[in-house]
This record gives sequence, C-alpha cells and structure tokens, in this order.
Amino acid sequence: MQRMNSIWVDQFGREKRKLRISVTDRCNFKCQYCMPEHPEWMNKKHLLDFESLYQFCELMVQGGIEHIRLTGGEPLMRQGIVHFIQQLQQLKSQGLKRVAMTSNAHYLKKYAQALKNAGLDDINISLDSLDATQFQQMTKSSLAPVLAGVEQALDVGLKVKINTVLMKGINDSQILPLIEWAQQKQIMLRFIEYMPLDGDAKWHRHEVVTEQDILNVVAEKYRIDAIPQNHEPARYYHLDSNYVIGIISTISHSFCGACDRIRLTANGELYNCLFAIHGLSLKDEISTWRHKPTIQATAELTQKIQQYIWHKAAGFHEIQAKQQSRKITMHMLGG
Ligand code: GTP
Ligand code: 5AD
Ligand code: SF4
Repeated sequence: MQRMNSIWVDQFGREKRKLRISVTDRCNFKCQYCMPEHPEWMNKKHLLDFESLYQFCELMVQGGIEHIRLTGGEPLMRQGIVHFIQQLQQLKSQGLKRVAMTSNAHYLKKYAQALKNAGLDDINISLDSLDATQFQQMTKSSLAPVLAGVEQALDVGLKVKINTVLMKGINDSQILPLIEWAQQKQIMLRFIEYMPLDGDAKWHRHEVVTEQDILNVVAEKYRIDAIPQNHEPARYYHLDSNYVIGIISTISHSFCGACDRIRLTANGELYNCLFAIHGLSLKDEISTWRHKPTIQATAELTQKIQQYIWHKAAGFHEIQAKQQSRKITMHMLGG
C-alpha cells in the first residue's frame, strides 16, 4: 500500500512522522544532565487533559503522524497514563503504527504488565551506570528499582532499549560494563552524547563523550563494523558480528537533515525542534476546538500547526549559532 504524504512538513521538505508528547515535567530523579537543581514544576491545572490530548493525537495521526512516544519528566508519574495508552490504540486503524514510552523505569516493576496489556509497543529506559554509587550520584535515586523494572519489562515481553547518556569523568567508565550487561540480556543499548539541554545550562563541550571517544573504547575489546543509518537518531555498529550498539551523536554527527519529529509539552506547547527557541502554545485552541470541532475550527487549527512546523530551522547547528537562550529544558521537552 502506498504511504500517504504527511501534511506536517517543513520548509526543507522533511515530513513529520513522529510525535513526542511530554505528559508531565515532573520526575522523581534529578539527573544532572537534565533536571535543574531547583525545578519549578508546571501547575497541574495548566496541563493539557487526556481528552484534549487524545483529540490532538487523532488530528496529528490523520495528517500523517505514525509514531507517538510518551515522555516526561517521568511519564509514569502522570495519573491515567495507562488508560491513555489504551485509548491511543484506537488510532491504529487511522495510520498510527506505534505507541512507545521513554522512562527512568523506577516504577516499571509495578506498571510493566499493565503497559503491555494496554498495547505499549516499546519502551526506552534510561540507565547511566551499573554502579549503584555512581548511579545515585548521577540521578539522586537508587539503581535497584530500575534494574527490577528492566527485568519485569523483559518478563512481560515489552520491547526494551537502554539509553545511556555519557559524561566525561563521571560515567564513561561504564561503556564496556554496560555493553557486556546488555549483550548478555540481549537488549539494545544506545549511548547518547550529552547535549546542551541540562536544566541549569552548565553543559560544556569538554564534558561530552563523543561518538569517536566511545568507539575508541569499544575497539579495545571488539571488532566494529558500521551499519548504514536510516531515519533514526542513532548510528548503529556491529560488535564482533554478534551484537549491535547504537550511538546518538547530536553534537558530533547531527541527523537533522532527516528529522521527522515534533514535540508537545505537558502544557500544550508544540516544539518543531528539540532546540527550538520558541514553541507554539496550543492549549487554549485545542481545548476550545475539542468542545466544538467544526470543519472550520479544525481547518484553522490544522493551518496554525502546519505554519509553525513549516518554519522549522534546518537543525541543531543553525539554532546553536544564534546563541539565544530559552527557558525550556530537557525535563519539559522529554528529549
Ligand atoms: P526511537 O528512535 O523511536 O526508539 O526513539 P528515540 O531514540 O527517538 O527516543 P528516546 O526518547 O529514547 O531518545 C533517545 C535520545 O535521543 C534522547 O537523548 C533524545 O533527546 C534524543 N533524541 C530524540 N529525538 C531527537 C531529535 O529529534 N533530535 C535530537 N538531536 N535528539 C533526539
Ligand atoms: N543530553 C542527552 N540526552 C539527554 N537525556 C536527557 N537529558 C539529556 C541531555 N542533556 C536523555 C535521557 C532519556 C532521553 C529521553 O533523553 O537520558 O533517555
Ligand atoms: Fe530534529 Fe532539531 Fe533534533 Fe535536529 S536537533 S534532529 S532538527 S529535533
């Protein structure tokens, strides 16, 4: 069957297929590469309610979105999330192919079975260290519940990927231990270059463990063969022909030229790029339109979204070059 064009397209012809929704900015962890020291949480009454969110997702899917990923903060901290995932399954008859989540896995032992039953297609879990002390230092939380969450997710048959953000001098010693652990469990592992999106804007280039740094360490133990990249942020490598790792290297190899993503924050702001300086506030429009979805109101909302997406910048390097600062950081955008 021929794939329909997406009506969500930017000025460079990049069609949007992936919608990432941050369902809450709250998180029980305080990862140093993400959360500010003193977070100011969004007021709960400013969150877009699930009914409005569902209608918005339907509009986006009808226009060409094929993947929805729920993020946070920590998405399992938003009440009603399992039911929402179940509700999203209805959109699979309208073109949605996948409903996924990115989580810190702290609450996953409790939720894994319910998520599987609700139809969650896959879950990406952040795990930066297998050393309990180092993990505690990086996240201000405990390692044990996360490992238990991973086990439970595997037990109930959820498709799991591990995300590891590497910071120089902090957890770069974990490259080989994490590969051995993930290979033994047959889970996909992706290392992520630390991006300038931390809550307190302390990022510095010298703290980034680059793709090349990672490959140098991996090469001490494995033969590495690169796999051609497709529409994904990660570049993949075969290790000794029997295991594959991914590296997401926005800093050293941005994949912006093929970017097919847009993002919505928990309070209903649309971002056309992870690094966009300004979002488009849609909460009021969506709430009004949902109660009276006339043909004209739908057309107006669609056009407003299309216009904003159209103006998406070429990518990360263009935005960084302008050196503008902004108030929104990773814990509000969900990565
Ligand atoms: P799938 O490809 O669907 O498995 O998910 P993902 O890798 O896009 O999602 P995940 O939430 O696991 O994100 C992993 C890392 O990729 C995080 O550090 C994200 O910030 C980063 N990432 C995700 N989307 C983008 C993007 O559009 N641009 C950039 N530069 N980084 C992204
Ligand atoms: N740089 C790179 N990745 C980050 N993440 C959070 N903050 C950063 C950052 N500053 C990752 C998390 C999670 C994903 C959604 O984004 O580890 O896996
Ligand atoms: Fe897309 Fe922006 Fe990420 Fe580049 S930095 S891949 S343009 S979201």
